[in-house]
Amino acid sequence: MATVNRAPDTRPYVPAAEAGEIRAPALVVKGRPASDGAGVKLYRVIGGQSLPDLDPFLMLDEFRSDKSADYIAGFPDHPHRGFETVTYMLAGRMRHGDNQGNTGLLRPGSVQWMTAGRGIVHSEMPEQENGLMWGFQLWVNLPAKDKMTAPRYQNLDADLVELLSTNDGGALVRLIAGDLDGHTGPGSTHTPITVAHATVAPGARLSLPWRADFNALAYVLSGSGTAGSEGAPITGGNLVVFGPGDSFTLVADDDATLELFLLGGQPIHEPVAHYGPFVMNTRAELQQAIDDFNAGRLGTIPANGLHPYRPRRH
Ligand code: CO
Repeated sequence: MATVNRAPDTRPYVPAAEAGEIRAPALVVKGRPASDGAGVKLYRVIGGQSLPDLDPFLMLDEFRSDKSADYIAGFPDHPHRGFETVTYMLAGRMRHGDNQGNTGLLRPGSVQWMTAGRGIVHSEMPEQENGLMWGFQLWVNLPAKDKMTAPRYQNLDADLVELLSTNDGGALVRLIAGDLDGHTGPGSTHTPITVAHATVAPGARLSLPWRADFNALAYVLSGSGTAGSEGAPITGGNLVVFGPGDSFTLVADDDATLELFLLGGQPIHEPVAHYGPFVMNTRAELQQAIDDFNAGRLGTIPANGLHPYRPRRH
């Protein structure tokens, strides 16, 4: 993506006055190579050695490869309990299916928002045999009161995101979920968070008001530039963790378009007990989740049973 095209329905975006404190980067980290599912190679940005977790975010993985061996095995049937997964595709196609009867095809620009709640068994499998597969999966924790909520699935196609642009047209923001300066994205969240994908044209600047009670993160998808009031240099693969304040600034270098995944959320401030695909508050609740899964109480997808008919799309 090299240029910023104003879509016809793009609304003018007027940043709030920068009256308060501008957030400075507190930390710039890089993800580490990891493997998950049936052997999908990925970069773990949050939830690994670089950054164990960042309340309310438990994990952020980037998968990006044009080698089918890196992704073809996908993520076959597996359970979750106690949190939400958010998957955002930039390239390629991935098919979701779960034991609640939900199916969805993730395509470039689409978002899948799955609330595991008390339990879900799902699979995420590539629907392509070659070519680039590029996307993200974010794990958002649920507070104790919502951990056993009913499972929910939202499939948000690319045309649903709220498109916003800066007044000078230098930056485009696709608001996926949460609130941003009076605008609201289509994703419905339990834990208050904001998720957006921003494109900043070469030399352009993006200043965004950001709730002071949210943390503020910017993951650089591609390009290079600077972040924050101190102009810290950033490049592809960097995660910027901003310090306190109520706005932040990102500037693209003159020769590169800066693509960013922006994230913020309200910390839950509860104990986290995490084992594989289950995230609860206590070890006893984790043991219960494992027992429930082993007893089939989270449900199973019958290997040889009948599934709802879903035509293949190419
Ligand atoms: Co999963």
